[in-house]
Amino acid sequence: MSEAKMHEYIINRYDGLSFLPEILEYYSQSHYLNFGYWYEDTSSQLEACDNLMEKLLALLPQKNGTILDVACGKGATTAYLLKYYTAEQVSAINISDVQLEVARETAPGCNFYKMNAIEMTFEDKTFDAIISVEAAFHFYTREMFFKDALRVLKPGGHIVLSDILMSMTGEQERESRTEKNYLPDLGAYQKLLENCGYANIQVIDVTEECWRRHFWHVVRYVHRQFLERKIDRQRLQECLFHTYRRVETMEYYLLAVAQKPL
Ligand SMILES: C[S@@+](CC[C@H](N)C(=O)[O-])C[C@H]1O[C@@H](n2cnc3c(N)ncnc32)[C@H](O)[C@@H]1O
Repeated sequence: MSEAKMHEYIINRYDGLSFLPEILEYYSQSHYLNFGYWYEDTSSQLEACDNLMEKLLALLPQKNGTILDVACGKGATTAYLLKYYTAEQVSAINISDVQLEVARETAPGCNFYKMNAIEMTFEDKTFDAIISVEAAFHFYTREMFFKDALRVLKPGGHIVLSDILMSMTGEQERESRTEKNYLPDLGAYQKLLENCGYANIQVIDVTEECWRRHFWHVVRYVHRQFLERKIDRQRLQECLFHTYRRVETMEYYLLAVAQKPL
């Protein structure tokens, strides 16, 4: 699929999905849209999404200066940054106007831009840190994003992200992904960051904490909705179809941190 077609698909998909009443309810109206990070006792998707932000931000040695949230969705990840940064320090980008409109309300005062992650229009050496939550697998390509992120980071600045590796079949079959982003394992992910010019790289396997525990939570959640007659059998089957489909192609969920050399 061409980059333009993939973008069109991604924008339509997330503009649709992230406004569905049942999705908003599942995420407690927070506007997050990711798997989250699940401890044994995490009890809601919202809590898991906040945990994921804490986990990622803990990988930054210091939280000062400016930070850019790449692929900010409807701004929940951006809003979380306000726990550590002032609004003036925070910028965020997305390719969707519709999502950006909500994001501006979710994280008031932050600087939002409509921009493609692989060709950002920021000056070189603009940001002290970059965060990207569960989106880099969509970028056409992830490698181009890593290179552009390195350009806009200040020397010594850090990138932190969560990302998903699928099987080659998953990368090829899904309209929102491209086989150009196929990486077989975490070692290959580390090598890619190295080859793009990053140092002090750490890639952490959190497939159990993020993907598998999210999977079980969704499965239980939709069955409960069905038992309480909030959804019918057809809707239950549709939800399970999408969730099970992911299992066949999901390989790794990872967290990564890397530094631009001084
Ligand atoms: C799974 S959502 C994650 C949203 C948010 N980071 C969160 O965790 O709640 C993926 C997001 O990536 C955005 N996106 C996809 N491709 C992009 C690109 N090339 N440049 C910027 N944003 C992109 C989508 O519009 C969508 O908002």
